[in-house]
Amino acid sequence: MAERLAFPEGFVWGTATASFQIEGGRDERGTCIWDDFCDWTGKVFQGHNGDIADDHYHRYREDVALMKELGGAAYRFSISWPRVLPEGHGAVNPNGLDFYNRLVDELLENGITPYVTLYHWDLPSALQRMGGWAARDTASRFADYCEVMARALGDRVKDWITHNEPWVVAFIGNLQGRHAPGWEDLGLALQIGHHLLLSHGLAVPILRQHGDADTRVGITLNFSPAYPASDSAEDVAAARRHDGYTNRWFMDPLYKGSYPADLVEAWGAAMPQVSADDLAQIAVPIDFLGVNYYSRAVVKHQPGGLLDYATTKPEGEYTHMEWEVFPKALEDLLLRLSSDYAPQALYITENGCAYPDTLTAEGKVHDPKRIEYLRQHLAASQRAITLGAPLQGYFAWSLMDNFEWGYGYSRRFGLIYVDYETMKRHPKDSFYAYQSIIAENAVEL
Ligand code: FCB
Repeated sequence: MAERLAFPEGFVWGTATASFQIEGGRDERGTCIWDDFCDWTGKVFQGHNGDIADDHYHRYREDVALMKELGGAAYRFSISWPRVLPEGHGAVNPNGLDFYNRLVDELLENGITPYVTLYHWDLPSALQRMGGWAARDTASRFADYCEVMARALGDRVKDWITHNEPWVVAFIGNLQGRHAPGWEDLGLALQIGHHLLLSHGLAVPILRQHGDADTRVGITLNFSPAYPASDSAEDVAAARRHDGYTNRWFMDPLYKGSYPADLVEAWGAAMPQVSADDLAQIAVPIDFLGVNYYSRAVVKHQPGGLLDYATTKPEGEYTHMEWEVFPKALEDLLLRLSSDYAPQALYITENGCAYPDTLTAEGKVHDPKRIEYLRQHLAASQRAITLGAPLQGYFAWSLMDNFEWGYGYSRRFGLIYVDYETMKRHPKDSFYAYQSIIAENAVEL
């Protein structure tokens, strides 16, 4: 008999996107570091770029109508900083601000609650020329930009997310060179990570100040739950290093006001400059933690590389990203975050999978693997709730297929298929599966 896993009343259901990945409308905003990165030969799959993307900038009404059809009560999207402030600071682009005003109004008119991310990686190029996130001053520019947004939308937007995945920004963008701006320097990446955290700490009180009692502010981190490849002491220690690098490096300063000592020691001379009050500023209390979870890491000791370990590839189901499908790690993660950090509330702000979808002649997309991924991760989430995790919502990544960073348009994460020739949207089978889960407030296994 089917097992019915019910979610608490009031559980927030939604979908997520990000500005650069869906908006397009390139001529109507300033340049960002992802535009520059797309122009850098060989960095992005087939030179794809965000000039048109899903053309959401012009089609947002149609997209909001689809959200309404889905039945989700919430939508997480991000603001393009250079659309609002083409130079990153100074003069506001009124059309840019107007776009977000119209989007928020459209959402609210359709009964959809906006969850707004302020930085999902599209730093204005003008600020990059002044040092980008390596410059401490950029943290203050970010706080100023947050003030502009809070003043403009704070009467209607109650849920703010300062940053999306600062780990990815710092390390994939500045150590691995696979994301904008594309550098490969550990010291630089660590300094940037610190400035991202600092900018969060500066922005939180500003967002609150321009809101009301209902205003809630959080941050979204990506997590890579680490499992040792064997129970040898060496592999266990290696998994601990991976955990420190990918999870604790940002969680500890945010929730404990300190960087994890084992990693501080490992980084040695590459440690960033940290001013006296920074960590207190960074650890400012927040209302919720956004959790992005896609996969786990199975780690073995291996001398060399950054921290003397390597990740292995266990047998199992893998998505088009080559990420292992492992829902149990989401349950473990939610419980571990709850016990180690006691966040006031948790939201899964991203979870989802890419598979090579095809559109049938009838305009349908049959994506049973995505449905299974969704169901299993929701089941894991529900179990974590019953075991005490303060999980209050789930946002599927993504509402629709979009620009998947270095992979361009070659990876499809959407519940809605986008035909990039015609820009026509086709809800996939997973869209309807999610629609009934939302309607039931439960998942059946
Ligand atoms: C996350 C990003 C998001 C999306 C997913 C697949 O790291 O936050 O924009 O690309 O991965």
